[in-house]
Amino acid sequence: MVIVHISAECYPMAKAGGLGDVVGALPKYQKKMGDEALVVLPMYKTKFLEEHEWDVHFKGNTNLGEWFFDYTIIKLKDSKLGFSLYLVDINGLLDRPKIYGYTDDTDRFLGFQIAVVNWLSNWAKQPDIVHCHDHQAGLVPFMMKHCYAYKKLQNVKTVLTIHNAQYHGSMDWDKNTLIPKWDEWKHGLLEWNNNINPLATAVKCADRVTTVSPTYMQELKLHSNGLESLFVNEQSKCIGILNGIDNELWDPATDPMVPFHYSLNDVIEGKRKNKEAICDKCNLNIDKPLIVFIGRLVGEKAADVLPGAIQHALDKTNCGANFLMIGAGDTAVESALNYLVQLYPGEYNSFIGYDEKTGHEAYAAADFLLMPSRVEPCGLNQMYSMRYGTIPMVRDTGGLHDSVLDMGEPDGFGIRFLHATETDIVYSIERAISVYKDKVQMKKMITQCMQIDHSWESVVKEYKNVYESIV
Ligand code: GLC
Repeated sequence: MVIVHISAECYPMAKAGGLGDVVGALPKYQKKMGDEALVVLPMYKTKFLEEHEWDVHFKGNTNLGEWFFDYTIIKLKDSKLGFSLYLVDINGLLDRPKIYGYTDDTDRFLGFQIAVVNWLSNWAKQPDIVHCHDHQAGLVPFMMKHCYAYKKLQNVKTVLTIHNAQYHGSMDWDKNTLIPKWDEWKHGLLEWNNNINPLATAVKCADRVTTVSPTYMQELKLHSNGLESLFVNEQSKCIGILNGIDNELWDPATDPMVPFHYSLNDVIEGKRKNKEAICDKCNLNIDKPLIVFIGRLVGEKAADVLPGAIQHALDKTNCGANFLMIGAGDTAVESALNYLVQLYPGEYNSFIGYDEKTGHEAYAAADFLLMPSRVEPCGLNQMYSMRYGTIPMVRDTGGLHDSVLDMGEPDGFGIRFLHATETDIVYSIERAISVYKDKVQMKKMITQCMQIDHSWESVVKEYKNVYESIV
């Protein structure tokens, strides 16, 4: 099968969150399992772009409304990623340093999608599956099926994977003139609440829709920023598939970003050495359980609750645990987290910003990873942490529900709580402190975590079943 992934992110070329990790791994494993998988994304001006060599693969031109533009498809020269990576260069529109955050993002991703579909319609042999990720690729299934210019692609099957349904990419109806001439009888497929809603359009037009966990699929029928009824109506073509993680990239025995390597046999000593290193660097107490948070400091991740909850926990337990917060986002949360550094020197620290290396070091060093997310379509951090023998403390939602079993249940290996509130978080921290004191229990849970298999191999088979159900 030939599978074309269309996305706004793909690690290591461009990553803002989990979407990048998944699109950087899934095609690699699809190729290993014998299919031909490739990824297309906008040519942003990233470090990866500058540090690698590219071949010009195709040159074309098309329209974004009145604007006639040239585009170039370039292809990564080497094959180190394990799949072919193609970038769309549209002068002035896509070649900028950031992935998102420009006032003309709507036009940027429209231009990107139009160029991709235009390119695909020039292929000598059609792909079997066009796999779109999130709303930035959401208009592709509609364009392939209903734009006159792309008639050739009408029967190519499309799949939408929803990594985050909080964002729909909604735009004014006026923007419809930017889309290459389409069959006006199909107006209803583009429209949602008087706007063009690319996510809704993709749910309506794609042959299959997947979410990144089964529980999230169910949750979308109840909360999805206004798309609830759509998910109920379309449920027969929807399925939840829990993400995998790239076990080659995320392996404490070989990870180049981890100072002291370890595996299941020497996990206790290995983690201890990494913890010593990070405690030294961040002025923390090696003898206390180290609880880390790694992620964007935004409402979805319940980062706003963290400063209060941590302060409360430190006071209530007489600094029974240490904390390290890593991430960037809302400035109010950033300053509240930084403020705690002065209040609890030696027990608390924060690193505002994100770089891959600090993240990896923290997974290897920490005893617990805290994820109080209000919304978590899948969540990868809990899986990375388990692979590194770090016990997940998660709110019971979405993919966290599907991947973490509370220690109170038979064979449980994590800590799960119901609400993203200070009370629930503090209570979970107290539970973590008491597990930490029991070395036997701690080792048992660490071992269980490390033995769980979230590798992509089995996940790829589930995607293959989805493809085969439509091809
Ligand atoms: C998004 C979701 C996250 C998921 C990731 C990869 O970032 O918020 O839960 O793990 O996509 O699918």
